[in-house]
Amino acid sequence: MIVARLMVFLLLATCLVGTSSATDNRAQDAKPQSAPSPAAAINGYQPKWWKEAIVYQIYPRSFKDSNGDGIGDLKGITSELDYIHGLGVNVIWLSPHYDSPNADNGYDIRNYRKVMTEFGSMADFDELLKGIKQRHMKLILDLVVNHTSDEHAWFVESRKSKDNSYRDYYIWRAPKDGQPPNNWTSFFSGSAWKLDPTTGEYYLHLFAEKQPDLNWDNPKVRNEVYDLMKFWLDKGVDGFRMDVIPFISKREGLPDLPPEYMAKPQYFYAMGPHLHEYLQEMNREALSKYDVMTVGEAFGVTLEQTPSLVDERRNELDMIFNFDAVRLNRDGEVWRDWTLPELKAIYTQQNQALDVHSWNTIFLSNHDNPRVVSAFGNDSPQYRVASAKALATMLLTLKGTPFIYQGDELGMTNYPFTSIDQFDDIAVKNAWKAMVVTNQVSADAFLANMRKTSRDNSRTPMQWDNSRNGGFTTAPKARLAVNPNFLEINAKQEFSDPNSIYHYFAQMAALRRKTPAFVYGDYTDLDPAHPKIFAYTRAIGADKYLVVLNFSTDVVTYKLPDAIKVGDLLISNFGKNADRGDTLHLKSWEARVYKY
Ligand code: NOJ
Repeated sequence: MIVARLMVFLLLATCLVGTSSATDNRAQDAKPQSAPSPAAAINGYQPKWWKEAIVYQIYPRSFKDSNGDGIGDLKGITSELDYIHGLGVNVIWLSPHYDSPNADNGYDIRNYRKVMTEFGSMADFDELLKGIKQRHMKLILDLVVNHTSDEHAWFVESRKSKDNSYRDYYIWRAPKDGQPPNNWTSFFSGSAWKLDPTTGEYYLHLFAEKQPDLNWDNPKVRNEVYDLMKFWLDKGVDGFRMDVIPFISKREGLPDLPPEYMAKPQYFYAMGPHLHEYLQEMNREALSKYDVMTVGEAFGVTLEQTPSLVDERRNELDMIFNFDAVRLNRDGEVWRDWTLPELKAIYTQQNQALDVHSWNTIFLSNHDNPRVVSAFGNDSPQYRVASAKALATMLLTLKGTPFIYQGDELGMTNYPFTSIDQFDDIAVKNAWKAMVVTNQVSADAFLANMRKTSRDNSRTPMQWDNSRNGGFTTAPKARLAVNPNFLEINAKQEFSDPNSIYHYFAQMAALRRKTPAFVYGDYTDLDPAHPKIFAYTRAIGADKYLVVLNFSTDVVTYKLPDAIKVGDLLISNFGKNADRGDTLHLKSWEARVYKY
């Protein structure tokens, strides 16, 4: 396996020679982020390494276990860096690796300067970072600072008494008529307030009870955050993905949720009155001293609000995750069937909303969403490979920095859940108690929805080979059951198959990285209403590319609009074809990229 991987890696490294961008791979060069760049604009955009990057997200618990305890760890990731590098991605986003009691798998941090014991030690982290840099890749960390764990030393102090010096690090309120201070709800079910018996006051938790919200209006809290950011930046990390960052500034007076926000409270919690001020301060105090990237998880931010967070002249964030596309298949938390014109409309709206001063992200999966091939492709044995490749073609040719979630490069699928005991996610367990135990929803209906939408679909272990537990761990039991399809779907099998999704993804990534038009080029949707075909162009002046994707199981004869004729076929998930001129004969889930 190792020899095979090395050979493939060398092959891909050779393919990529000369394709790397003008990326400066030094960890930090003390260059202010906002200083005018000497580089000439490309199609109106200031070139930046993070605009040209392809990001790979690792959920460490489920990536690779090196010590046989059934839980993924940092050494496991280090052992697979050639696998990641071979894909042609150049930035790794590591989901939280900090000390945590794991109420929400690390998104509840007990100590920001310590590595989670299950994941290893600080020496293991340093080794991982070194391995990443040796391969000329970069590392961004998850910055989870809307809340901490209730086991964080600040909260342990804060809850002791009303006059404790850490009291004001969190959001405490007296009961109102014996009830919570307002009607805010938690994303993990129930009230967002928890009564603490020691002082008889409630604390705010927009997520689990064990995730108390920090009080960002306290300057001491903000300085603590900037210090911990500098701790990791000084180690050489290249930026942060910022967890629910638009929630850090709470509305003045904490008013009740109006009825129209009950189903989507994120739009009420986000974009509080001091958000811009705090982000600019964070930029000034920490980020601007390093050459790093930031991406905000912008749950609750509308497209219209986006430029106010990412316009480069404002010095707030480099880009955000907009959820319109990834949650197109959800109505609240319930699955809904989506249509291709809806998806195309979202990309067009994003393109129109952002000018050359703002940058976008492209993603259709992460650790909070189901598997991309199950949610947006077709995970039946007949179409899984073709549709996973078609989605990779789209994700790597749209406008914005692509974020790819671990295992999607193998076409890993949703898990066939049949019982509540198979889930680990606190969101699912709490929702079961709130809905099924109270007889509001039947167990069957609940499970049917979770099979399509649950976050655990993407959190099952990576499938490395066809040995027990898919090669994820040598322990008898993995932390979460491995998808039984690991016998057919695994990295070892895909490595040995030149037509695999993994190798196709690597070719697509290489194509993107050597083609400035896929990064900075204009985007035009050629046929917004077509229900099966997604056809678009990316162009910088005369350097023009055409992408045609069949998003259906039908064979489709498609006449290109606007007198466009195909040129050189650069890549297709079905190899060469005889089509010339303006009419294409597309197989089910066929994807083609032309220069024209
Ligand atoms: C968003 C994270 O992506 C999710 O996994 C987590 O549960 C919440 N924020 C709370 O931190």
